[in-house]
Amino acid sequence: MSTPKRYLVTSALPYANGLKHIGHLAGAYIPADIYVRYLRAQKREVVFVCGSDEHGTAIPIQAKKEGSTPQEIIDKYHQALKEDFDALSVSFDIYHRTSEPLHHETAAAFFAQLQEKGDLITQESEQYYDEASKTFLADRYIKGTCPHCKSDRAYGDQCETCGRTLSPDELINPLSTLSGATPEKKKTTHWYLPLNQHEDFLREWILGTHAKDWRPTVVGQCKSWIEGGLQPRAVTRDLDWGVKLPASIQGGAGKVLYVWFDAPIGYISATKQWALDHGKDWTPFWQDKETKLVHFIGKDNIVFHCIIFPVMLKLHGYILPEQVPANEFLNLEGDKMSTSRNWKLDMRDYITDFVKAENGGGQCVDMLRYYLTQIAPETKDSEFTWKGFQDAVNSELVAIFGNFVNRTWVLMHKLCNGKVPHLHPTLFEENEQSLSREIQAAPGRISELIEQYKFRDALFEVMDLARKGNQYMQKKEPWMLAKKIETDPTAQKQIDNCLHLCLQLTANLAILINPFLPNTALTLLHMMKVVDRMLAWENAGSLTLLNAGYPLRAPQLLFRKIEDAEVAQQIEKLQKEIMSSTTTPTTPANNTTPTPEKPIIQFEDFAKLDLRSGIIRKAEKVEKADKLLKLEVELQEENRIIVSGIAAHYQPSEIIGKQVTVVCNLAPRKMRGIESNGMILMATDKSGKLHFVQPENPIEPGSQIS
Ligand code: MF3
Ligand code: ZN
Repeated sequence: MSTPKRYLVTSALPYANGLKHIGHLAGAYIPADIYVRYLRAQKREVVFVCGSDEHGTAIPIQAKKEGSTPQEIIDKYHQALKEDFDALSVSFDIYHRTSEPLHHETAAAFFAQLQEKGDLITQESEQYYDEASKTFLADRYIKGTCPHCKSDRAYGDQCETCGRTLSPDELINPLSTLSGATPEKKKTTHWYLPLNQHEDFLREWILGTHAKDWRPTVVGQCKSWIEGGLQPRAVTRDLDWGVKLPASIQGGAGKVLYVWFDAPIGYISATKQWALDHGKDWTPFWQDKETKLVHFIGKDNIVFHCIIFPVMLKLHGYILPEQVPANEFLNLEGDKMSTSRNWKLDMRDYITDFVKAENGGGQCVDMLRYYLTQIAPETKDSEFTWKGFQDAVNSELVAIFGNFVNRTWVLMHKLCNGKVPHLHPTLFEENEQSLSREIQAAPGRISELIEQYKFRDALFEVMDLARKGNQYMQKKEPWMLAKKIETDPTAQKQIDNCLHLCLQLTANLAILINPFLPNTALTLLHMMKVVDRMLAWENAGSLTLLNAGYPLRAPQLLFRKIEDAEVAQQIEKLQKEIMSSTTTPTTPANNTTPTPEKPIIQFEDFAKLDLRSGIIRKAEKVEKADKLLKLEVELQEENRIIVSGIAAHYQPSEIIGKQVTVVCNLAPRKMRGIESNGMILMATDKSGKLHFVQPENPIEPGSQIS
């Protein structure tokens, strides 16, 4: 394909209901940033847009959780997200937000246009209505018993216990989470996008045109949607948080656009705002067929970006995405990342512990970017481990890239007066020829991989070039030649050749690493005393980037080592965090402040607990978890496995036979791969030590406590 006239690159708009973790970062933001930085270095016209997704029920729900208002929530998290992306060198041209009036106008007008053309249909249906709160209930606002696992932690969209997708109608005993009342069915009319009318287009466009150039995982998901039978999809909601339907729409009062209708339009409003800010025209970005539109997303967003939004775009008369490089998921230390279980590493945590903790945290930013690119879940789920991070940094960034550059600089200062030495072509050896050829060939290969969205492989190639530089240096041993200067008349010239080539290679590495590790590229520019124009991709492969005789600065440390203690500390922190959100009591570190009282509950709330007395029959340490013990607790006629966070307080051997109080009907939860079926009650004394809660006298295991 010929080079597009311009590019519009988008990253999924994160919900402004909380901080985002490194799985999000690796999925939709770092890859997009690499791609965009590469395009900029290629001098292509590109705009990179993103922003906060501030609608949907996720926002009011978070507000309730935090005892705040939706507006406060979006303001707080919009700011936080913007700062975090910035701190990690994600270089959006604009980070917009969907609460902006420009977005509301754009989204409402988009809807109005489809509605006027007759592209939407209306349907009446019965939906749950909460008489007490005078409102229709969004799926998330209905709680009930799961028809599958019978857990009562099920919502109208999903069961929290077994994870199955639900619809409100499937819930047993539905209750409004707003008022606690039993909701009633009431008629309501909504607008639908009739996806079924666009099946031919979708088949042709995805399974025909893009079956070869989209990732198999993406095509696969689309295929199963299409084959599963496309249904009209509601694009409005009875809610008061969101983009209001245009006033011109009859019957639209009190309704808002479905968040997944308005959010992707956020890409358009962000483009408009960017254009306004820069005195540019936004229309070609969405209307000119020569624009290449690329959506970077995580796999949970595929259907919206490959099926629903494209149908909307086509109906509206806008261009369609050329590529949707969706990534799979990133796991963390052997387990799925999850916000509700607190098993995650937020971008902010890394920023606080590494980036902000150092002066000039740029190298820490790049260290994370490096590892996340190296393990990017491009084709299948992958895993972040702190040990893996340490290895990537210490044995690749430090030992190969950093080491090569540092040696080159130190030797150049020591043996060549701190200047780029002259070349002596007649003494150029075969291994120097071959390294030169590698330098010339690498950029083409790397370009090709980046343009195919294979960022892992592209980064590997850059690293490989540094590795070759290191090997060459190791063979040539300029430090040995230095000892022969008195006796060997060619020694100095050979040193010059070696360092001349290694310096040209360093300049090339700066260009090639720039899309991936932009802070490292800047440090290299500083050391070479050149301006950022040198980073233009067209310069890559050149062997004359630095002129002979040009004085260079002193070397700077590109990457620091990650110590074992840091790895241990992070793992411990992770375990602490999961414990504070799971079935085990948290130990107040310094219990001087009294624990705040919890709000009054009703007797019915208390009566839901199934408390029983049990006896610990077995206890063992959980591997790789300092705080956890795996217990087998005898209850009436059964032994239960319970994982408990008491390892810091008790040795397994000293608790066998102890009587304990067990919450028996707590939803099962996996910890470190072990399913825990209940929780042991513990009392915490002033010093933070834990004590078992026991009946006054020993009693039968399984006895009820109430
Ligand atoms: N907020 C959504 C999520 O986090 C992504 C929205 S992407 C957009 O899953 F296209 F709708 F903007
Ligand atoms: Zn369930």
